[in-house]
Amino acid sequence: MPEGYVGGAQPRVDGPLKVSGLAQYAGEFPAEDLAYGVVVSSSVAKGRILRFDLEAARATPGVVAILTHKDRPTVTTDAESHQDQAAPPGLPFIPLLDERIVYSGQPVALVVAETFEAARGAAALVRVEYEAEPAVVDVAQRRDSAYDPPEKRDGVPPPPPPRGDPDGAFAAAPVKVSGDYRIAVEHHNPMEPHASTVFWRGGKLVVHDKVQGVTNTKAFVVNMFGLPEDDVRVLSPFVGGAFGSGLRPQYQLTLAVMAALRLKRSVRVTLTRDQMFTFTYRPDTLQTVALGAGPDGRLQSIRHDAIACTSTYEDYQEAVVNWSGLIYACDNVSLSYRLAKVDTATPGDMRAPGATTGVYALEAAIDELAYAAKVDPLELRLRNYAERDQNDDKPFSSKELRACYERGAEAFGWSRRSPEPRSMREGRDLVGLGVATGCWEAMMQPHSARATLTADGKLEVACATADIGTGTYTILAQIAADALGLPIDDVAVRIGDSSLPMAPVEGGSWAAASAGSAAQMACAALREEILKHARAMENSPLANAALDHVVFSGGRVARADDPARSISYADALKSAGRERIEAKADFAPDEEFQKKFAAYTHSAVFAEVRVDEELGVVRVTRIVSAIAAGKILNQMTARSQILGGVVMGIGMALHEESMPDRRLGRFMNHNFGEYHIPSHADVQDIEVIFVDEADEANPLGIKGLGEIGIVGAAAAVANAVFHATGKRVRDLPITPDKLL
Ligand code: MOS
Repeated sequence: MPEGYVGGAQPRVDGPLKVSGLAQYAGEFPAEDLAYGVVVSSSVAKGRILRFDLEAARATPGVVAILTHKDRPTVTTDAESHQDQAAPPGLPFIPLLDERIVYSGQPVALVVAETFEAARGAAALVRVEYEAEPAVVDVAQRRDSAYDPPEKRDGVPPPPPPRGDPDGAFAAAPVKVSGDYRIAVEHHNPMEPHASTVFWRGGKLVVHDKVQGVTNTKAFVVNMFGLPEDDVRVLSPFVGGAFGSGLRPQYQLTLAVMAALRLKRSVRVTLTRDQMFTFTYRPDTLQTVALGAGPDGRLQSIRHDAIACTSTYEDYQEAVVNWSGLIYACDNVSLSYRLAKVDTATPGDMRAPGATTGVYALEAAIDELAYAAKVDPLELRLRNYAERDQNDDKPFSSKELRACYERGAEAFGWSRRSPEPRSMREGRDLVGLGVATGCWEAMMQPHSARATLTADGKLEVACATADIGTGTYTILAQIAADALGLPIDDVAVRIGDSSLPMAPVEGGSWAAASAGSAAQMACAALREEILKHARAMENSPLANAALDHVVFSGGRVARADDPARSISYADALKSAGRERIEAKADFAPDEEFQKKFAAYTHSAVFAEVRVDEELGVVRVTRIVSAIAAGKILNQMTARSQILGGVVMGIGMALHEESMPDRRLGRFMNHNFGEYHIPSHADVQDIEVIFVDEADEANPLGIKGLGEIGIVGAAAAVANAVFHATGKRVRDLPITPDKLL
C-alpha cells in the first residue's frame, strides 16, 4: 500500500471552517421564531426562595415569559430517568425544581424575551427574596464528616485494597517523607460558553447543544420531558472546547427545552462567563501522601489518602489515589478515597479527572523523597519503575515510559541540572529543573459508525461522536481515506448529530480508539462489498481474487500481484446498478484483552522555571513532554493535544484558582479578570516527543491522547520551583505570595 494518512501530520480538515467563522456553535444557530432566555442565578448558597417580585421584569418591553419553579413544565424527578452516561450516583440537579437552594449561582428563573438585550435587562430586574441558611463550601471544614461513597460511580475504579504492610514498612523505612497536598478548585472555562438553541418544530425539538455527547443528551431530554424518541434530535457539530464540562447535559439545556415546550417556539439560552462558574468544576481534594524508602530511594511503603468534595445531592467520584499503587513498584501500599459534602454544584470531570489531582500529589512527594534520599529525581523514578500493574496484578499491554524518561531527559538537557536546590542561577533569576511522571488509562467504549461510498468515488464516514477541538474530524478522515485508498479530500466526516450511529460521550481519551475502530470496521465492510461487485463484473480481472490478494488504492481495487489489473469503485458500483453502498459497524472493546492486560498511556514531563526572588514570580521557560500513547494517528493534532494539556498544567501550577468565600458560599473570582489562566506570555518553549509504542488493544493500536498531556505537568513545574528556590509549596497554584 502507498504511504497513508494515518501517522502523518495532517492539518485539520475542519480548520478552514473554524478559522473563517463558517463553523457554527450551539449559541449561533438562527431561527425565525427565536426567543432568548437569560438565567437568573441565586445569590444565596443555601436555603429557600420565599417569593419573587417579577413586576418590573415583566413590564420590560419584549419580555415573553418568566419561568420559575412555580410554573415550569412537568419533568420527571426520579433518579433513574436522569442518569446520563457521565452522571455520578445521586439525584442530578434539576433547574427550577422547587423553592430549595442548594448552591450559590443555582438558576432560579429564566427570563425569555424577543431579544437577548431585553431578556438580560429584565433578568436584572427580577427580585428574589430568600430565607438563607449557613452554607459550607470549603471541604477542609467538612473533613470530619468524610464518608465512603456507598454507591460507586460507573467506570471509576475504587481504590484497590491495601497490599503488604504499608504502616509497618513506613515505620521501618530509613528514608521517609509525608505531606498534605491540595490544588485549588478549577473551573473549565472553554472558549465557547455553554449554550443551547432549541428549535421548536411543531412539537418536535431540534436541539443545538454545547455538549460532548449528542446520543447521551438526546436520551437525557427524552427521559426528562417524557418525549417520544423521534421527537428529539440533538446536534453538536462543533464544540469550542469543553475539557469535560460538556460531558453531562447542563442546566441551560433543560431551561431552554422547558421554555421551548412552554412557549411553543424556539429558544436560546447562553450562559455568561460568570455563569460558567455556577456548575461543574475540578473538585477540591485534600490529599496526604507518605512514602518510605530504602537509602537507595527504592520504595518500601506508599500511603495516599484523599478526601474530595462533592455536592449535597450527588456522590461525584474520580480515581485520585489509584495511580499511587500503579506508577511505581512497591509491595506495601494503602490507598483511600472518601468524599465530603459541600454546598456547591456537583463537581465534575475536568481533563484527566482524578489523575491530574492524584498524580500531582504523588509526583511532588516522589520529588521530596528524591531529595531526602539524595538520589537524582529521574534516577529515583527509574529505580522504582513498575514492570507490572500491581493494583490489578496484570502485565501492561505496552509501556514505553522508560523511553519517555530517556528521550525527554536528552531533549531537555537534564544532565546539566546541578542537584542542590538554589544552585542554578541566570542573571538575577533562580533557575530550577523538575521532572514528573504522567499516567492515564487507555480506555475504549462500544461505538458505531457508518461508511457510505457513492458512485462519484466520494466517501462519507458518520457517527454521533464529537470533536471538542481534539481533532476527531481529521483522524476519522485519515483512517477512512487509508482504509479505502482515497485522497483525504474525497472523504467527508459527519459527527455531532444524534441521528447518526451511536457514540458514547466524547471523553476519557477513548474517542479516537473507539470511533476510529468503528470507522475502520465500517470501511473494511465497504471494501468487501466493492470487491464483491468488482468480481461480479463481466470478464472481471478480479474474478477469483480474494480479499487479502487485492489492494484498495487511488479509488480502484487492484490485484496485489498485478496492480494493472484493477477496477475503479465507480465502475464496480455502476455495474451493480448502485448509486451508493453503505456499511455500518458496531465496535466493541476486546474484553478478553482487557481482562489480560492493563492499558495506560504514560508521560515524562520536564520543566525549567526561572524565579524572580524579589517578586516571587515564576516563569516556565521550557517544558519537554515525552509521551507514550500507542499509535499516534496525526502528529499535528496529537501535538496540539499535548500542548493544550501542558498549558493547563502550567495554569494548575501557577495560575488557576477559584476562590470560595466561606461566608457567602460563593466562588468570588468568577471572571477572566480575576480567574487567571496562562496567557501567551506565560507559555514559552514547549517540546512534545512521541515515543514509539506498539499496542494491540485495537487494530490501529490507538491509546488516546486527550488527557495525558496535563497529567504530571503541574508537578514538574512545582518540582522545578522547589529546585530553584528550596521552597516546597504543596498548595497549588504557586502564586508569588507563597514564595516570598
Ligand atoms: Mo474529558 S474530562 O473525559 O472531557
